[in-house]
Amino acid sequence: MVSPNQILILFAHPALEKSRINRHLIQAVKGMDSVTIHDLYEAYPNLEIDVKFEQDLLLAHDIIVFHHPFYWYSSPAILKEWQDLVLEYGFAYGHSGTALRGKKFLSAITTGGSEQAYRREGYNRFTIRELLIPFEQTAYLCGMEYLPPFVVHGTHQLREQHQIAKYAKDYRYAIAALRDNTIDWESLRQCQHLNQIQDGVIEIREIPHHA
Ligand SMILES: Cc1cc2nc3c(=O)[nH]c(=O)nc-3n(C[C@H](O)[C@H](O)[C@H](O)COP(=O)(O)O)c2cc1C
Repeated sequence: MVSPNQILILFAHPALEKSRINRHLIQAVKGMDSVTIHDLYEAYPNLEIDVKFEQDLLLAHDIIVFHHPFYWYSSPAILKEWQDLVLEYGFAYGHSGTALRGKKFLSAITTGGSEQAYRREGYNRFTIRELLIPFEQTAYLCGMEYLPPFVVHGTHQLREQHQIAKYAKDYRYAIAALRDNTIDWESLRQCQHLNQIQDGVIEIREIPHHA
């Protein structure tokens, strides 16, 4: 049996007590085998990031997830600080900076703006894939494969509990498939969003068997 991928979820929400969506998403992946959740604001309330600890965590995992609400077309501040400090020259990039090579990278984000807003003719003018290009290129520079992002759009419109619960379930399902290698990686690479797993666009070879 192929061993499962070790997944590291770097979670960044500066006000989790006010969260309507992300707290359900993160709850849905808690306690899963081979999935480490690292809540950055909880670990570093003063933004004093332990670089060595973070680099060791990265080394111990195969798939790195940045999970956060979309703030000003990017991430909350701590994740930028994390990138500036942890993705060091000689570790993540540069001649001898090969520590992350061959790993996979995933953005898991929630946006206030609807899917229609993230179109050329929408008020955000760019697609979410375009706006995530800094993350994509960062992953590329570090030798990681950038996966199609998991995106929850239109969070302000999500009023019903069952709608939020559906996204939470989708997220758990996607993380389980990435962990268990049950995903058809080639069909995944053709997709815009990892969410398309639920529409059957991304083939799942077998039912995930871990918790
Ligand atoms: C400081 C700040 C900046 C934001 N910037 C954006 C943005 O650029 N695009 C967008 O679609 N939503 C934006 N939002 C809305 C958040 O993405 C939305 O509230 C969040 O995804 C909801 O998740 P939560 O319920 O877990 O907090 C912003 C919200 C805040 C507080």
